[in-house]
Amino acid sequence: MVAVGAAEGAYAPYSGYRVGAALLAANGKVYTGANVENSSYGAAICAERTAAVKAVTDGQREFVSLAVAAPGSTAIAWPCGICRQFLFEFGGGLRVITGAGADSLEALTLNELLANGFRL
Ligand code: THU
Repeated sequence: MVAVGAAEGAYAPYSGYRVGAALLAANGKVYTGANVENSSYGAAICAERTAAVKAVTDGQREFVSLAVAAPGSTAIAWPCGICRQFLFEFGGGLRVITGAGADSLEALTLNELLANGFRL
C-alpha cells in the first residue's frame, strides 16, 4: 500500500505517530503525503493535507480515493476533522480507505465522514 510507504516521510518527533497518505487524482496520478510536526505543536500538518496540497498545487482538482495508514499503530487512521473539510472542498464523493493494518481495511466516502461540510 502506497500510504504505508509514504509514512516513511513523516517528521513526527513529538507524537511519534507517523502517518502516510496516498491521494489518487482523477487523471490517475497518485500524490503521497506524510505528517510534518513542529515545536509549536499546532503548526503541524497532517499527512492527508500534505498530499492534498501537493496534488492541488500540481493542478489537480478532482480526486477518486485517499488511502491513509499509520504503520505500527493499532488506531484506525481516519482523517481528522480539519482534513475532512480541506478535502471536501474538492468533492464529497472521495472514497477514503484506512484501517489498522492491511487485513482490516475500511472505506467510507467523505460525505459519510463529514456531515454538512462547509461550502461558500
Ligand atoms: N495526523 C495525521 O497526519 N492525520 C490525521 O488524520 C490525524 C493526525 C498527525 C498529526 C500529528 O502529527 C500526529 O498525527 C498526532 O496527532
